[in-house]
Amino acid sequence: MSKLLVAYFSKSGITRAAAEKIARVGDGTLFEIVTAKKYPAGYAATVIVAKKEQIVRELPEIVSHVDDFESYDTVALGFPVWWFTCPRAILSFLSQYDFSGKKVLPFCTHGGSGPRKSASDIRAACAGDVRECFDANGATDDAVRRWLAGE
Ligand SMILES: Cc1cc2nc3c(=O)[nH]c(=O)nc-3n(C[C@H](O)[C@H](O)[C@H](O)COP(=O)(O)O)c2cc1C
Repeated sequence: MSKLLVAYFSKSGITRAAAEKIARVGDGTLFEIVTAKKYPAGYAATVIVAKKEQIVRELPEIVSHVDDFESYDTVALGFPVWWFTCPRAILSFLSQYDFSGKKVLPFCTHGGSGPRKSASDIRAACAGDVRECFDANGATDDAVRRWLAGE
């Protein structure tokens, strides 16, 4: 039996809602990637902080931890697109676990650009079998089911 972890980072709740749907449809375990640092409440201020993180290649500290990570064979990994890729917190998360032998299914929400470099940046930071990034904006239960099934 395949065991699914649905790990996500979300600043304002949109990706959280997508992750909850994916965990429900795929019968997965939901896990929130929580950073030690708090991002600003406002959009414009967060955009500046996120750009600085990219420039200095920061790996923000993660304060939440997955129990029994080894037991999962598939990890759905969700995030908002920040500056045309995944937030740096996703790269922090990837650095903390051994993904070799695992299937990694990235999914994102975004404001219109689509996933862009997300999957290739995740691939470069992770030993797992990283699939293309699923666009979870407005995804129906049926679309989620088909994506999880690899259709
Ligand atoms: C720092 C920052 C950078 C963003 N960069 C992009 C981007 O490059 N492309 C895009 O379409 N949306 C971008 N957005 C919009 C978010 O991806 C979008 O609002 C997302 O659904 C928010 O998810 P959340 O509620 O889970 O945080 C950005 C938002 C923030 C805060």
